[in-house]
Amino acid sequence: MHIHRTIAEIRQFVRHFKAAGKTIGLVPTMGYFHEGHLALMREAKKTCDVVVVSLYVNPLQFGPKEDLAQYPRDFERDCTMARDVGVDAIFTPSDQEMYPQGFSTFSTFVEVTGLTARLCGQSRPGHFRGVTTVVTKLFNIVTPDRAFFGQKDAQQAIVIQRMARDLNMGLDVTILPTVREKDGLAMSSRNVYLTGEQRRDALVLNRSLCTFRDAIQEGERDAGRLRGMIMDMITAVPGAQPDYVEILAVPDLQPLETLQGRVIAALAVRFGKTRLIDNIIVEV
Ligand code: PAF
Repeated sequence: MHIHRTIAEIRQFVRHFKAAGKTIGLVPTMGYFHEGHLALMREAKKTCDVVVVSLYVNPLQFGPKEDLAQYPRDFERDCTMARDVGVDAIFTPSDQEMYPQGFSTFSTFVEVTGLTARLCGQSRPGHFRGVTTVVTKLFNIVTPDRAFFGQKDAQQAIVIQRMARDLNMGLDVTILPTVREKDGLAMSSRNVYLTGEQRRDALVLNRSLCTFRDAIQEGERDAGRLRGMIMDMITAVPGAQPDYVEILAVPDLQPLETLQGRVIAALAVRFGKTRLIDNIIVEV
């Protein structure tokens, strides 16, 4: 597995394979891999000739009070895991490589409007502008035929799909299902921050989403009642502080009163200092 730290190196690597007619898959990540990342890499391996994983903790998508400095990192472990699933190259640039002009004077941003108005777009101002800007840079650098994202970050994946379509980026954006621990907790690099008690408390996320799905199966269609049901379950856990719970139409992410078509229940909840997100998409 090749490790490239500069844009020039990864460009040369990709150019070589493209000249030979090979397809390129890109899995953009911020590292600290878990099974969710590995599932994306395995799917990329199955469907593309060459798999590039980008590993870059992008400062542009973190707010001033967020966990950029504490974000978990373990480069050696990540390399071993990626090598074991057959990744061909890791692209891991420095901040200087990605933003040589510095953050304060960086001036070109990519922004998807509308879809970013709610959920994490509302509770983390500037977050999606940072994500879509860095993902555009990664797409321009790696020029993949396909890129892979997880449904755990459903709003991010939908926003990136829309951006790729609106800006004719000419690649396929694939979204793969959330990978969960045996007890239902969605895999996330941030789970490592949780204490034992917080981790037990956090099981309410998946539990409430399953209750939402079951209630729909039993015929409930009222978004307000379903939202209330999820909120009641979460607030019944003393250590859980909800940031948002929303039920929206997919893929437009607009609120609806009566459920129909594809709908998402998405939530963000704090356990101590750790903010976790989760969601479920149901076809009504
Ligand atoms: O989901 C992530 O890990 C990040 O938001 C991404 C897509 C790699 C952009 O920095």
